[in-house]
Amino acid sequence: MLKKSLVDLINLQVNREFYSAYMYLDMSVYANDHGLIGFAKWFKVQAQEERDHALYFVEYLQHVGAPVVYETISKPERNYKDIEEMLKEQLRHEQFVTTSIGNILAEAIKEKDYLTQEYLQWFIREQGEEEKNANDLILAFGLYGKNPASLMELDHGVGKREYHKSVPSLD
Ligand code: FEO
Repeated sequence: MLKKSLVDLINLQVNREFYSAYMYLDMSVYANDHGLIGFAKWFKVQAQEERDHALYFVEYLQHVGAPVVYETISKPERNYKDIEEMLKEQLRHEQFVTTSIGNILAEAIKEKDYLTQEYLQWFIREQGEEEKNANDLILAFGLYGKNPASLMELDHGVGKREYHKSVPSLD
């Protein structure tokens, strides 16, 4: 039986993952409006992954017989004024999500909830990858983003990202 503190933290995480999806769909629109259709696609794929993350937490709650509570998803804030700042905002957001998942893990350790600790490992690794991806985009944009020809090429490369489903195991 999942402790109430963990039920609440995981439901909060469900909301944060759905917010991430919503925010990345908005970043996709922003990139599209700036003529970067490759970046627009990249963020759409990212939004799909975030929706998956939300549902994986939902599935975990259901797996252990805990209640799922869907809360209001906030409007995405555009706290940036160009693509470079948007990419930095993505990294800041992923660092926030990493901390948020770390808080769940800390609570699971405190409560000696070994199953939750085990399930969270997949998300901890996923966050490592997401922070790296965000960092890579910032670096690439810093190198190639100032020149229109190289930016076009970068946008083309970034747009090759495809959605691949990766699933944490409940078995
Ligand atoms: Fe699901 Fe980007 O954290």
